[in-house]
Amino acid sequence: MLLTGKSAVVTGGASGIGEACARLFTAEGASVLIADVDQRAGQALADELATAGHRCHYIYADVTNETSVETMIAKAMQLYSRLDCAVNNAGIGGAADSIEKLSLTDWQRVIDVNLTSVFLCLKHELKVMLPNQSGSIVNVSSGAGLIAVPNMAAYASSKHGVLGLTKTAATENLRTGIRINAILPGSTRTPMVQASMDMDETIRKMILDSARCGRLAEPMEIAQNIAWLCSDRASYVSGESICVDYATVCR
Ligand SMILES: NC(=O)c1ccc[n+]([C@@H]2O[C@H](COP(=O)([O-])OP(=O)(O)OC[C@H]3O[C@@H](n4cnc5c(N)ncnc54)[C@H](O)[C@@H]3O)[C@@H](O)[C@H]2O)c1
Repeated sequence: MLLTGKSAVVTGGASGIGEACARLFTAEGASVLIADVDQRAGQALADELATAGHRCHYIYADVTNETSVETMIAKAMQLYSRLDCAVNNAGIGGAADSIEKLSLTDWQRVIDVNLTSVFLCLKHELKVMLPNQSGSIVNVSSGAGLIAVPNMAAYASSKHGVLGLTKTAATENLRTGIRINAILPGSTRTPMVQASMDMDETIRKMILDSARCGRLAEPMEIAQNIAWLCSDRASYVSGESICVDYATVCR
């Protein structure tokens, strides 16, 4: 199996792409700590996977809060004694408005959940990975990290920011044995994408048009690439930003 003996934390692990990661990582032999603000869904998924014989736990964690992130990492260390993999995946779409109408509160919330969270997670994941001189971290950006997304300025800016953070973290860790990469999913069939499509007609059209192969991605198709990056098969890959979008950004 791809991840036998490894331990992982998955933020936003209760739904969508994070849920697919929790399912795939445990199936591939990893111990997984699901971290999410959705207590009901997170605990239910951890219980389901544990009942199926996997090593899986849930912790309430709000990735915008540094104390909460520290507690999450401490829990992973307490449960598994080491942290090999981290998937910084929690995110929100945020309000749909053109820039002149966007409130500072709405802007700030998206930046906090999608970008500042990745900084906080990286900071505390690196602290426990550095003594082992090994680890693999995957930050979940988006196709919106490369292109304009009208009416979603905060989202696009946060996801562009995740790429800068990923490259910087990878460069700071060239000689530490810790690999840091970003995955850029195309439009994927998750509750977040459904909510964005329901919110704004322009965004609905953009999401459906972006699926150039005629369908949205399944969460598991994104998780497969994240699992590969976390595995030893990607041992010479760091600082990369990998699109899993069926050529969506090749316009
Ligand atoms: N679905 C897509 O089309 C798509 C495309 C590109 C990128 N992404 C990115 O993939 C990631 C996962 O998205 P998804 O589509 O699976 O969404 P989702 O809404 O299905 O899942 C996101 C999870 O993050 C959790 N979360 C939200 N705020 C949190 C916080 N402050 N602390 C901890 N957990 C929090 C939610 O409770 C939820 O379980 C996001 O970063 C998103 O931007 C998604």
